[in-house]
Amino acid sequence: MITTEIDNLAKKVKSDFPFFTNNPDTIYLDSGATSLKPQIVIDAIVKYYEVYSANIHRGVYKASMDATEIYESTRSVIKNFVGADDDYEVIYLRNTTEAMNLLAFTLNKTKNQLAKNYQAWQNGFEKGDVILITESEHHSNIVPWQMIADEKGLEIVFVPILQNGELSQNAFAEIKEKLKNRCVKVVSLSQVSNVTGIIHNLEPFRTFAREKGAVFIVDGAQAVCHHKINLNEIDADAFAFSGHKMLGPTGTGVLLAKKGLLDNLPPFLGGGDMILDVTKTATTYNKIPHKFEAGTPDIAGVFGLRAAIEYLDRIGMDNILNWEKELLKYGMKKLDEIGVHVFGPSLSDLDRVEKAGVLSFNIPGIHPHDVGTILDEHNVCIRAGHHCCQLLMQAWNTSATNRASFYLYNDFSDIDKLVDSIGYVKKIFKK
Ligand code: ALA
Repeated sequence: MITTEIDNLAKKVKSDFPFFTNNPDTIYLDSGATSLKPQIVIDAIVKYYEVYSANIHRGVYKASMDATEIYESTRSVIKNFVGADDDYEVIYLRNTTEAMNLLAFTLNKTKNQLAKNYQAWQNGFEKGDVILITESEHHSNIVPWQMIADEKGLEIVFVPILQNGELSQNAFAEIKEKLKNRCVKVVSLSQVSNVTGIIHNLEPFRTFAREKGAVFIVDGAQAVCHHKINLNEIDADAFAFSGHKMLGPTGTGVLLAKKGLLDNLPPFLGGGDMILDVTKTATTYNKIPHKFEAGTPDIAGVFGLRAAIEYLDRIGMDNILNWEKELLKYGMKKLDEIGVHVFGPSLSDLDRVEKAGVLSFNIPGIHPHDVGTILDEHNVCIRAGHHCCQLLMQAWNTSATNRASFYLYNDFSDIDKLVDSIGYVKKIFKK
């Protein structure tokens, strides 16, 4: 193991994660799929059930009112965490996927309600309208758009990637020229790729969206967990993330969207809590955010998410990103030394390309699932597959990769173990 001059973050935080007490020999390198949870998050979930347990918004008794207060005030905690001002509203959902579906399906029902704020939206979706996304998107930012594109005859235009996973700015310039006279209604992309870890520059996409009067959407699922977000600067009309990738509970997700957008979208799901008044013939909807939160939500999940945010805030997101970058450089060097092919930016690209702690790689001649399975025998957890990014796989002419994803609790010895285990895989396959 190398010595490092920077503070060893993992050493400070590892004991906060009970997973390691229960699995002392396990090397967890799959935080891109879901992060581990600190005890403080688990305690917050348990505390809701042990101390409050009551439903929110419904009870006129103390336990319900106290639970409501914590649930509601967590919206401000979230806004502060991602640097969102009062233009934004927080909608609690199950995950990023649900947020993208909410946006696609409610936009699909919109007619001219958005016209005041978005000049492309003088009418609802019409045949030939364009949705601009990229080849590097997770399926959750592809499939919902395809579902409505099929219905309305829309064209989905993809900004291609360069071989190293960066979005091609030249190709984007050509696309913009081609779309000069087209109605682009949505521009939507992820801030950080779950496969390459690249932190994309969103500015050219926001500028294009504004020029076109389109709605600008950012999938922040792999961003919020890795680095400090300033949503006011990103200036997305809608920004989504999942709690479970940032130390929070599974089943928690957040859509932050501008009030001017949400006010003019129809509800996504109907039911309790999203209404003001129901008669036999009509329903008056509740105001935002409640209009988009039908039914009893994951109250305990919100308690846990709040604890996760407070924990991350105490550690400092800049410290987390810097630590991941150290691990990344070390991992890339080590994998290079043993002849493993790393997808995405090279070590020298890192002077120019911002990247979070995600490493996708292949061992030439060995299927990623075989690698993953043998690594598991060595107690090393990685993900093998297409990572819900089949377009990216197709651009790389492969069906799958291995992926090791790092987080604050990983250290250099985890990478050493990964590299040793890969050496063993190569030995078995005589590569
Ligand atoms: N989207 C998650 C991943 O990248 C599940 O693994």
